[in-house]
Amino acid sequence: MKDKQRDLVIASHNLGKVKEFESYLCGFPVRLLSQPNGLHIDENGSSFMENARIKAIAVANETDAWALADDSGLCVNSLGGAPGIYSSRYAKNDKDRINRLLSELVPFDDRTAYFSSALCLASPGAKILIESEGRCEGLITHFPRGEGGFGYDPVFEVYGTGLTFAEMSRTEKQFLGHRGIAFSLLEPGLNKLFKVD
Ligand code: IMP
Repeated sequence: MKDKQRDLVIASHNLGKVKEFESYLCGFPVRLLSQPNGLHIDENGSSFMENARIKAIAVANETDAWALADDSGLCVNSLGGAPGIYSSRYAKNDKDRINRLLSELVPFDDRTAYFSSALCLASPGAKILIESEGRCEGLITHFPRGEGGFGYDPVFEVYGTGLTFAEMSRTEKQFLGHRGIAFSLLEPGLNKLFKVD
């Protein structure tokens, strides 16, 4: 039984996500490739999973290789689940997104929230191979804390830790975070797919 290396495209230009995936996939027989520049994908799904499928299929078809996509975001209970699938479109950059979130939460006592990540692995021809979804529960802080991570990390305190994602080491975030949880649910399927007779 011998593993054969396979090209796998990470369907994202988000450096934070790409770094996380590089470390999750380091034990698999894959050659990781970047998503081609200039590919416009209309993320018009109505859930994280629908958007993950749209991205994985578009990139697999464009590159003629397997593609792994993540669609993720922050859902805040007092805001009816917003920003949710609109997390990256909530404002023009991370600082403004955080400021908008903190100001919209001012009237509310309930600051509970969760991050969700939907993962989809597709092959060319729009074939979905495996998919999974992971969640991480927490609270929105009153002020940003920590220097690590990306996106909303400085204002998301992971339930039971007292730390924001931005205050954690990369390893801690990967272990507790929504993408890490989604990836661990994808792993049994990946192990099967990569087994070569
Ligand atoms: P996507 O690239 O369309 O999936 O957008 C996801 C957006 O959600 C990102 O731009 C971030 O704003 C936010 N997001 C997703 N995952 C994380 C995370 O792990 N930490 C902080 N923000 C995240």
